[in-house]
Amino acid sequence: MSQIPHIKEFSKNSKYYNSYNLIQKKVVKKLLSTVSFKPKTILDLGCGDGLVYKNLGFKVDKFVGVDLSTLMLDLHPKSSEVFLECKDFDSVDDFDKYDLVISSSSLQWSKDIYTLVKNIENNSQNFALAIFTEGTFKTLRDWFGLKSFLPNKNKLKMSFSKNVSCETISYKLEFKSTLEMLKYIKKSGVSGGRKELKVKEIKYFLQNYDKDFLEFEVIQVKKFNM
Ligand SMILES: C[S@@+](CC[C@H](N)C(=O)[O-])C[C@H]1O[C@@H](n2cnc3c(N)ncnc32)[C@H](O)[C@@H]1O
Repeated sequence: MSQIPHIKEFSKNSKYYNSYNLIQKKVVKKLLSTVSFKPKTILDLGCGDGLVYKNLGFKVDKFVGVDLSTLMLDLHPKSSEVFLECKDFDSVDDFDKYDLVISSSSLQWSKDIYTLVKNIENNSQNFALAIFTEGTFKTLRDWFGLKSFLPNKNKLKMSFSKNVSCETISYKLEFKSTLEMLKYIKKSGVSGGRKELKVKEIKYFLQNYDKDFLEFEVIQVKKFNM
C-alpha cells in the first residue's frame, strides 16, 4: 500500500467511497455535461473507482485511468478498452496522445498543481478538469481557525491562459448531526485523512458545532479545440 498519507486514506476507505461520494457524483456529471464532443481516447487522472468512466454515456476506443491507490483501481470497471495504471499523475506527461484529458475531484492532491495544470494545458488537445478549491469546508475551517490545504481558486485560474473557460461551482450538503458530518469528512476523501484535530477538539466539535452543513467549492476548467 502507498505510504503517501492521502493515498493510504483513499485505500482504507475505498469500500465506503461509493456511499460517501455524493458531491463527487454531482461534480463528475456536471463536468461531463460540458464535454461537447465524443472523444475516442481518454486519459483520466485520479480515476478512482471509475466515476468518469461509469458516467461517460458513449463508447470509446481507449480509456486510460491513472490512480495511485490499487484498492480504488480494483473497484474500477474493467473492459477491453479500459487500461488502468497505478502511478502518480504528477509523473504523467503523454497528454498529447489522447483526444481528451479529464480529471474529476482529484487534482487537488497534486504535489505541484500549478505546474501540472500548465503542462496539461500546453500539451493536451482537449481537457476538462474539476478541482476542489480552498472555499471547501470554509465555515467549518473558520470555526476552528484552520487554513485550507486546498489550492486557491484565483491562483489556479491564473495558471491557465485567458482563452480557457473557468467556472466556480458551489455545493452544499446538509447533515442530521455533527457525528454524521464527522463521518462524512472522514470517509468521503475530501480531507485526505489529514489529522488536523486532536481528540479533545473533535469532542468539542461534536458537542458545540451549531451548523448543519458543509460547503464545497470546485473549479471547472476546460478547453476544447474540436
Ligand atoms: C476523490 S477521489 C476521485 C476519484 C474519481 N475521479 C471520482 O470522481 O470519483 C481522488 C482519487 O485521486 C487519487 N489520487 C490522489 N493523488 C493522486 C496522485 N498523486 N496520483 C494518482 N492518483 C491520485 C486517489 O487515490 C483517489 O482515487
